[in-house]
Amino acid sequence: MDYEAIIIGGGPGGYVAAIRMGQLGLKTALVEKERVGGVCLNRGCIPTKALYAATGLIERAGKAGDFGIDFPRPKIDLPRLIAWKDGIVARLVTGVEKLLAANGVTLIKAEAEPLGSGKVSLSSGDEITGERIVLALGSAPVEIPGFSFSAPIVWSSTDALNPDSIPEQLVVIGGGVIGLELATVYSRLGTAVTVLELMDEILPGLDIDRRAIARVKAGLKAAGIDIRTGTAAAGYEKDGEVAVVKTKEGERFRADRILLAVGRRPNSAGLAELGIELDRRGFVMVDENLATSVPGIYAIGDLTPGPMLAHKASAEGVKLAARFAKEDYPLDYDKIPQAIFTSPELASVGLSEKRAKEEGYEILVGRFPYAGLGKALGMNEPDGFFQIVADAKTKRILGAQIVGAEASDLISEAAVAVQNGLTLEAIADPVHPHPTLPEGLKEAAENALGRAIHAVNR
Ligand code: NAI
Repeated sequence: MDYEAIIIGGGPGGYVAAIRMGQLGLKTALVEKERVGGVCLNRGCIPTKALYAATGLIERAGKAGDFGIDFPRPKIDLPRLIAWKDGIVARLVTGVEKLLAANGVTLIKAEAEPLGSGKVSLSSGDEITGERIVLALGSAPVEIPGFSFSAPIVWSSTDALNPDSIPEQLVVIGGGVIGLELATVYSRLGTAVTVLELMDEILPGLDIDRRAIARVKAGLKAAGIDIRTGTAAAGYEKDGEVAVVKTKEGERFRADRILLAVGRRPNSAGLAELGIELDRRGFVMVDENLATSVPGIYAIGDLTPGPMLAHKASAEGVKLAARFAKEDYPLDYDKIPQAIFTSPELASVGLSEKRAKEEGYEILVGRFPYAGLGKALGMNEPDGFFQIVADAKTKRILGAQIVGAEASDLISEAAVAVQNGLTLEAIADPVHPHPTLPEGLKEAAENALGRAIHAVNR
């Protein structure tokens, strides 16, 4: 055998698995047909967050009048903005390649086709053999009838991250995570954005309590984004250079670009022919050791069921490497945090209040508003709140949700608590520095215990 492990796909699942396997002394090859980093690094999380941060400055400058600081209308040099974003991606790609090399991983730039247990053929014409094959093939955006990515006016998230101009009117189809994150970015760039969401509420697939969703929706609407829930996009007609998007309900929306963000599907085409069992949505079925139904073939990341998140893929990569080295790495899928980069940000971990009740827990709920934090007021970010849900009997923290400025960073303290089975006291008692935003989580934990200092405890 050429390798102890061959990993196909160099995204945050595959490259992390490869680095960890290298660290653990396994002779490892990573096969990737494009640049390493996958969707997340090249055309997903990272470029989105670069644009989110850059355009956040426009939003903050727009609100700076409240401080008595007035900025003129910003001039946006789109090629420079895109080049800056591309520079960040390139830097990270180079970094990943160096880390692979430093950990003894052989990076093979080719398209790979698994031929069953032990064998992989490469687009270069070579064939390589490995004791174990790891599929980390990722996912791709789906189309719906009436909309095809082959039409230049219909954007995928990849197109939206590489615009040649800023559209005047953008219709976003899908009020899920991708749709709302890019709606936020384009609205800040001055585009009139309309979001069409099929279901009764935005972000319908997530376990987030209504009041947090309502807060996000209010923020997006206040920024001028037109959100139409219960609205199914049915097709579009071209009207010269622009399109008119039609809905099942009979409405029409003009758009110079249409962003289709109605979900992603696993890149599992052809795997069933190898005997690999898929579920009815096309996800690869794996056991608790991430093994597929074919001996010696494993799968991780967006290819397997569970949240389509980069950090879920990475965690599965680490878990698999540990497994190959006969070590243990616990991974509880119900405790994987999520951060959504809208304005305001939304982040969560563990159970919502609703789900905790459905699961039969008697619960304690603590909340604390951003408006109660001196730091948040000084930042001119008074909107939002922290929420902690705990088991009333044991005081163990079951979940947390944060909506407001920097929620994506603030959730990590709660994630550590939830994943380690910590109690409310573990967050309420330790001294937190003042004045900072994480004090909000401490106060929410204190509030759940009936003893927040800066809120009336009810
Ligand atoms: P999604 O599943 O989050 O949202 C798709 C939305 O489109 C749903 O709300 C659905 O009801 C709606 N929809 C479907 N057909 C429609 C129609 N005909 N008209 C109007 N609305 C329609 O999928 P999305 O946003 O494409 O994201 C894909 C995956 O990537 C998700 O699992 C997401 O969690 C993940 N992701 C996570 C990020 C984060 O955590 N920050 C960032 C980007 C993606």
